[in-house]
Amino acid sequence: MTAEYKVQGDVAVISMNNPPVNGLGYATRLGIVDGLNKASADAKVKAIVITGLGKAFSGGADIHEFGTPKALQQPNLLAVIDTIEHSAKPVIAAIHSVAMGGGLELALGCHYRIAAPGAQIALPEVKLGLLPGAGGTQRLPRVLGVENALNMIVSGQAVKSEMLAMAPRQKLFDKLAKSADSLMEEAIELAQKAAADHAKGGALPLVRNLPCKHPQNDAYFEFARNTVEATAKNYPAPLKCVDAVAAAATKKFEDGLATERQLFGQLMLTPESAALRHVFFAQRAASKIPDVGSDVKPRDVKRVAVIGAGTMGGGISMNFLSAGIPVTMLEVKQEALDHGVGIMRKNYEARVKKGKLKQDKYDACMALLKTTLSYDDLKDCDMVIEAVFENMDVKQAVFKKLDEVMKPGAILATNTSTLDVNQIAAVTKRPQDVVGTHFFSPANVMKLLEVVRADKTAKDVLATIMVLAKKIKKTAVVARVCDGFIGNRMVEQYVRQGGFLVDEGATPEQVDKAIEKFGFAMGPFRMGDLAGNDIGWAIRKRRAQEHPGMKYSGTADLLCEMGRFGQKTGAGWYDYQPGQRKPVPSKVVLDMIDKYRKDQGVTPRKISSEEIVGRLVYSLVNEGARILEEGIANKASDIDMVYLMGYGFPVWRGGPMHYADQVGLFNVAQAMNRFAQNPRDDAKFWQPAPLLAKLAADGKTFN
Ligand code: 3HC
Ligand code: NAI
Repeated sequence: MTAEYKVQGDVAVISMNNPPVNGLGYATRLGIVDGLNKASADAKVKAIVITGLGKAFSGGADIHEFGTPKALQQPNLLAVIDTIEHSAKPVIAAIHSVAMGGGLELALGCHYRIAAPGAQIALPEVKLGLLPGAGGTQRLPRVLGVENALNMIVSGQAVKSEMLAMAPRQKLFDKLAKSADSLMEEAIELAQKAAADHAKGGALPLVRNLPCKHPQNDAYFEFARNTVEATAKNYPAPLKCVDAVAAAATKKFEDGLATERQLFGQLMLTPESAALRHVFFAQRAASKIPDVGSDVKPRDVKRVAVIGAGTMGGGISMNFLSAGIPVTMLEVKQEALDHGVGIMRKNYEARVKKGKLKQDKYDACMALLKTTLSYDDLKDCDMVIEAVFENMDVKQAVFKKLDEVMKPGAILATNTSTLDVNQIAAVTKRPQDVVGTHFFSPANVMKLLEVVRADKTAKDVLATIMVLAKKIKKTAVVARVCDGFIGNRMVEQYVRQGGFLVDEGATPEQVDKAIEKFGFAMGPFRMGDLAGNDIGWAIRKRRAQEHPGMKYSGTADLLCEMGRFGQKTGAGWYDYQPGQRKPVPSKVVLDMIDKYRKDQGVTPRKISSEEIVGRLVYSLVNEGARILEEGIANKASDIDMVYLMGYGFPVWRGGPMHYADQVGLFNVAQAMNRFAQNPRDDAKFWQPAPLLAKLAADGKTFN
């Protein structure tokens, strides 16, 4: 049992003790009920306080248990709350740090609640594709009012306890403690007072008995449904949250609870919830590197240097400045520095204008920036990130210089997107301090950071980057050295398939629309136009030398030969009106594709959206499987995080590897075998990766 029981005078204290966040797993639920039973049987005990040890009151139901028999094992959370409500002695929740999901529902079942200031209060189930399933949708509206409660339930956002305590007519908290330190003392006083009042014969207050109604019930819920429907799109949970709260406002408590239970059960079985729960764990797992344990101490990074003030250098610097970490930026020429700083200012000022950043915070960020043309000024930096031109000779020259000037123990990072980090490390006398930090453009916005672990990168360097990534609000995923690392190596196959589909009869627009309907933020052709088609052109030229047999559609090269590099040249796979980003199908491009097909002797065929989506998504899956078996990625969920955070894969589908697991790897492998029969495609590529074939044969999954 993971709850402690102690008696202090005439008050029993039940403390949940299930680190890290007192998830309400089976053993904890059992421990709470056991404590309640002991308190009930002890004549000395007049009142009961429930609290949580460690860093949370409770983070809610134990998500690890979902889908396992333990989740259903009695006492479930509803039964625990029922036991509290039936207690003849007053039960007080003493809330601190975090009360979320089932944790808040547990507190709402108590007769009284006291909260420490600063506690984060939330019903975040919607973020897992669920709704609160232990009375939260029925009780929260009764203590906060329908509108406030619905906002919290549909958004899942946490609100500070002191804010909620100030809400007019709120009945969520009976008291706000003076401080977290005095919480238990004040909770025990409250318990003793409740016991004294109760001894006089008063009934114990229950949230379920409070009224719940909106003054304009029908009109309000119609408005809420319309608003939520417009934004929720592919996520079923938010609308069900509205339904459940509407039930609270229109039905008897028990009937509302039954509605909530039914909707919770339905949502638990949706693929969207499975995907979101996968993402929750994948995000946390990404920061864990199998052979870098918690005993590895990160290095101290107080000041960062950035080499190059171009597109990436500026964005990278902004990340650190925004996190309060001073940056020294170095360039070859003053004009380049001025230009780079000007763009950073423009980006910050746009945020100030939109009200997303306060002027004083912007000023504080810029005050942390130093610029220089001299390597001598980098001596006091604990880490340097190089973001100069993508050229091995230039990068090696920079690293030789850094090796001379940086202090011992400083981390030397490169933002290269394609080059071999081992070769960069090799020119220094300290390859153990060299690592790849591959930011995505725009670097101040994109959440993904690929951390490239070179052969000699030290474990504490990796540990440091993982800590820093959290500070600058990035999701860091570790990759080993290979061409394209995880993300770009996979995207190359996806783009290649886009080309084959067009060769065979699809239009760029048809391909983009099909994959965007699947949920991608952008199809491969719109993505090419945004990133610049010349980047892929350069890669293909390199490939032609390195892997002469590699098969590509010829249309992308023809497009570049026409100077159609994308939005930056006003024309790419699509036409663009001056100053606009809306893609307009281009007759010139369609004619070029037509001619190419004729030259290749291809009779165009009609291609279904299903085939387009299958070939694009499974190309990611097959390359992902190879990346996994080669040890480039540590785990399948890391590949999912790369695609969700860096490439616009739909979150509600959980990433390519999770999606393949859901489809079933046997079905995925069968589809690949079918694609391999297509003479216009690359049969060798479509051989299911050995790992995929084995998992499919064994009926297993990636994750
Ligand atoms: N169940 C199980 N484990 C949980 C958990 C939960 N509800 N919440 C967090 N954890 C685990 C994480 O997996 C992580 O484990 P790890 O160290 O092994 O990776 C650890 O706790 C720490 O989590 P974070 O890194 O997120 O720590 P933070 O301090 O940054 O944040 C938190 C703590 C605010 C509690 C955050 O973890 C969080 O938002 N958790 C999810 C809360 C949630 O969604 N609760 C609702 C659950 S569903 C429910 O209650 C159903 C009910 O209505 C019936
Ligand atoms: P950029 O061309 O915009 O900026 C490079 C800057 O480096 C220029 O300002 C240049 O003056 C400066 N520079 C060149 N040589 C230098 C030297 N020896 N010392 C100091 N400064 C020097 O290039 P961008 O796009 O910022 O790319 C930088 C790096 O980031 C490259 O390795 C690139 O592959 C990588 N990258 C780029 C992404 C992108 O989308 N642009 C995405 C991810 C990585």
